[in-house]
Amino acid sequence: MPEMNEQTAPHAPLNLAVIGCGRISGAHFNAAKARPEAVRIVATHDIDAAQAQAAAEPFGAVACVHFEDVLAMPEVEAVLIATPNSLHAAQSMAALQAGKHVLVEKPAAETGEDALALANLAAEKGLVFAVGHTFRHNDAVRYIVDHWGDFGKFRSLEVSSCVFWDGPQAPWWATRTPEEGLILSLFAPHSLDFVQLIMGEDDPVRVHAEAARHQSGWQGEDEAMVLLAYPGRRLASVHISYNQPAVLDRKVLHFDKGVLEIEHGEILRWNGEELVHPPEGVLIDPRRMGGRTLGHYFADQLSEMHAAVRGKPHRLPTGRDAARLIALIDRVKASARANSAADAIDPPLADRPQ
Ligand SMILES: NC(=O)c1ccc[n+]([C@@H]2O[C@H](COP(=O)([O-])OP(=O)(O)OC[C@H]3O[C@@H](n4cnc5c(N)ncnc54)[C@H](O)[C@@H]3O)[C@@H](O)[C@H]2O)c1
Repeated sequence: MPEMNEQTAPHAPLNLAVIGCGRISGAHFNAAKARPEAVRIVATHDIDAAQAQAAAEPFGAVACVHFEDVLAMPEVEAVLIATPNSLHAAQSMAALQAGKHVLVEKPAAETGEDALALANLAAEKGLVFAVGHTFRHNDAVRYIVDHWGDFGKFRSLEVSSCVFWDGPQAPWWATRTPEEGLILSLFAPHSLDFVQLIMGEDDPVRVHAEAARHQSGWQGEDEAMVLLAYPGRRLASVHISYNQPAVLDRKVLHFDKGVLEIEHGEILRWNGEELVHPPEGVLIDPRRMGGRTLGHYFADQLSEMHAAVRGKPHRLPTGRDAARLIALIDRVKASARANSAADAIDPPLADRPQ
């Protein structure tokens, strides 16, 4: 655990280094600008040195050519890892070994085993190992967590999260193999994190998944359905897609007293009565890609990371809770491969019978 000094006093902003200055890091940098009381960007690193330099400049931060140089900086308290998925585990491990707190973009790791090793190391060293499940920082989700006792006995949950990506949004999307997973690695973590949040301490007793690929610009699955059975006869279903141009983001929770629904990821209704409405300007055109602003989630996430590192209550998934999600994704991927690989994902589209 870094020693307490003026920098690490309870209210001091967290000195953060950002590793990977690509697409999503823009949201993190904007969040850092919005929350100077929570974080101070002191270093950046990217394999592309020019990108690290451009990202560092507005903050007067140091752009490091090597990752090890970031880890050697005593003023860096925490790293935010926003590199391609396959690098998350090794970079998080190196950062924890160097005594840095970690906020890593989802997924925390490619396997449950790696994620658990990270959680264990963080616990051993008294460091925060947190994962960027951005959509936890949403008023509707928070309302459900904070008013859980109001709705009666919970029975089941349906999640639909269907968007449209016309091919790879970063080059590494195209090279992910079907075994590594595409949508099950990139997008499923958001939906399944919500399921795990609702199910609490329990992991599913049974997992069934089917996956399919509809686009030819990548090798992995771009659509999946998952059915989960939890202790206490609680059920969950998850439908995720990269093939739906009329964006659908809906969560439905069934209780013995009625139905909770989150529409467009933002509007919360209890038996039709509105409980939470997003602030003006968040839902611009929610059935369109990009028609909803997400910046406030990233800003809240940095405030939560500040709270976590400073030992205060926070809402980030950390440690073993974060690792349990990757263990669940392992099970989902295995089920999807067993059920759907040969006829729905693997054959090149050109070779498939029409
Ligand atoms: N929370 C969310 O809603 C959300 C949204 C999008 C992406 N993500 C996650 O963020 C991560 C990054 O995604 P992205 O879309 O920004 O990808 P990206 O390819 O645009 O950015 C990744 C950056 O990492 C850099 N990089 C590659 N190898 C590196 C290495 N060895 N060392 C240092 N830097 C390296 C690249 O040059 C690039 O700038 C992914 O894990 C993705 O799952 C999360």
